[in-house]
Amino acid sequence: MRTQVGIVGAGPAGLMLSHLLHLRGVESVVIDVQTRDAIEQTIKAGILEQGTVDLMRQTGVGDRMMRDGFVHHGINLAFRGGMHRINLTELSGGRSVMVYAQHEVLKDLIAKRVADGGDVRFGVTDTKVDDFLTEQPKISFTHEGNQESLECDFVIGADGSRTMCRFLIPQPEVRTDFFRQYPFAWFGILAEAPPSSDELIYAHSDRGFVLVSTRSPSVQRLYFQCDPETDTDTWSDDRIWSEFEARLSPAGAHITPGSIFRKDVLQFRSFVCEPMQYGRLYLAGDSAHTVPPTGAKGLNLAMADVHVLDRALGAYYQSKDTGLLESYTQTALRRVWRAQWFSFWMTSMLHRFSDASDFDLRRQVAELELVTSSPTAAKTLADNYTGLPLG
Ligand code: DHB
Repeated sequence: MRTQVGIVGAGPAGLMLSHLLHLRGVESVVIDVQTRDAIEQTIKAGILEQGTVDLMRQTGVGDRMMRDGFVHHGINLAFRGGMHRINLTELSGGRSVMVYAQHEVLKDLIAKRVADGGDVRFGVTDTKVDDFLTEQPKISFTHEGNQESLECDFVIGADGSRTMCRFLIPQPEVRTDFFRQYPFAWFGILAEAPPSSDELIYAHSDRGFVLVSTRSPSVQRLYFQCDPETDTDTWSDDRIWSEFEARLSPAGAHITPGSIFRKDVLQFRSFVCEPMQYGRLYLAGDSAHTVPPTGAKGLNLAMADVHVLDRALGAYYQSKDTGLLESYTQTALRRVWRAQWFSFWMTSMLHRFSDASDFDLRRQVAELELVTSSPTAAKTLADNYTGLPLG
């Protein structure tokens, strides 16, 4: 088999890149170890930046999102002393975010690739990438019992945080990893309940962080900061709802409980690898970087990476111009590190660290008071939350 661009990973980065390349007439093949069902059912975050929303709409994969998603023009910061709204749209000059779950984005992208005759292979095994330091890289894999060998011009490692592609870049000779672990995690729930708030609530409390998000008028997504070793089975529904109440009520916020049908623990990590390319291998999305969930930047960064890669590959196929490909890492990393800073800032402003003193808690409240009272500070939050323009 032969294609122009071989893509390892059918997540947001791999599927969107394949879709964008198709629109400019460049062929690709996407492979993934997971089944289509597993990819379409995995629960992840649900906030799309303005640039992601625009990209989906402009490239013809935004219909369901526009119908079923919810545009949010503000968020609330809750802390001792009350709830304060950040008017994202006014502060950012007209930008907003969309509440639309990541697995719904994936369903839309897969459906579109299939409708456009795209080659996406699910459930592959034994994936190997070779010869990426030559002009003829090769991906071999097993699909439906057949051993396949795919020759391509470029290989894209879009294989998520459990990547194998990243490890093809030799460390420490070429690759440097930047890493930060956090001493906490998020306990996430999905509940059948009406929304408790028109807009998301990010809450600081002496007992730790809470995020009140939503999925639909009847399904709510809520998180509270927990120990990374937490066993969700030891938390009854009553205990979970009491914990939310204990953390939110000092700020005057309350949630309407309901029937919890899913519980999970999300780990916190910040990670970046540099460079994001090696020979004809290019990394995109979580294979190259991970952000902690606060601020929901993961999927949006993946979209931004492939927006850069699509234009770089487009320039190559149009005029053999390799300039944008050569500067891919440098271009992508500017946004990646900005998102690392933003996610770290939101995380450290809102979470309780295990060694936090009363001094630290008061310092956090002072920072939250600054962000909710100074238009300059609030604008910094709004600009970064709604996301810098793509490109
Ligand atoms: C969601 C997740 C986030 O990390 C966030 O900052 C906002 C919303 C969500 O899953 O809805």
